[in-house]
Amino acid sequence: MRRNIIAGNWKMNYNLSETEDLISKLVSGLKDEKLNCDVIICPPFTSLSLASSLTKSSNIKVGAQNLYFEDNGAFTGEISASMILGAGCEYVIIGHSERRTIFAENDEIINKKIKKALSSNLKPIFCVGETLEERESGITKEIIKRQVVNGLKDITEKNLENIILAYEPVWAIGTGKTASPEQAQDVHNFIRGIISNIYSKSSAEKLIIQYGGSVKPDNAKELLSQDDIDGALVGGACLKAESFIAIIKAS
Ligand code: 13P
Repeated sequence: MRRNIIAGNWKMNYNLSETEDLISKLVSGLKDEKLNCDVIICPPFTSLSLASSLTKSSNIKVGAQNLYFEDNGAFTGEISASMILGAGCEYVIIGHSERRTIFAENDEIINKKIKKALSSNLKPIFCVGETLEERESGITKEIIKRQVVNGLKDITEKNLENIILAYEPVWAIGTGKTASPEQAQDVHNFIRGIISNIYSKSSAEKLIIQYGGSVKPDNAKELLSQDDIDGALVGGACLKAESFIAIIKAS
């Protein structure tokens, strides 16, 4: 039985005081709840240490939104896995479509980042998803397969246990246009099939596959009730305690 994981990707939002404000609302709003899911928040790098200390004795875990695959050196503006770990993180988002499109990250870079996260004891939240053009051209599954296979290249079955996959159709991100529960379920089931082929049926059954793309309190329940959807990666709706908590409770 897979346990849902609801993660909030804050993207490039919130300074330290805004971080403190949102986390204090989340911690108090969730403290007496018996949750059916695990909860992760992924604030910007500058807020990670604060987020880790504010969530220390709560049921909320912390992740980063990216890392660089080198250990240290002349890589101006980049952040290493050990820095993220030192800031108290357990998770790191890798391969988000905004990284792929705006910052030109390809499958090879993403694969290196996943490997670096794993070898540093960080759990990657590995994102895949097709653009609208790709969906309309009927090549969604081809794209997803390429991203999954290349992203997981040379990653062992044992290491796969520490990876969360997130299916985020690019056309559904920040657009208010969610994939229908059937569209999302179809791709999630397809991803599980790919994992089964690369690794094994039992690894595929254990893998957590989150859905992301305009998840809101009013559509979360239906999406999360699909057989192969094991949680959500939430953008806009995680920036307000009320809506993020409502999604967590829908799980
Ligand atoms: P929205 O929920 O704002 O569509 O963003 C989804 C996302 O990109 C999460 O990583």
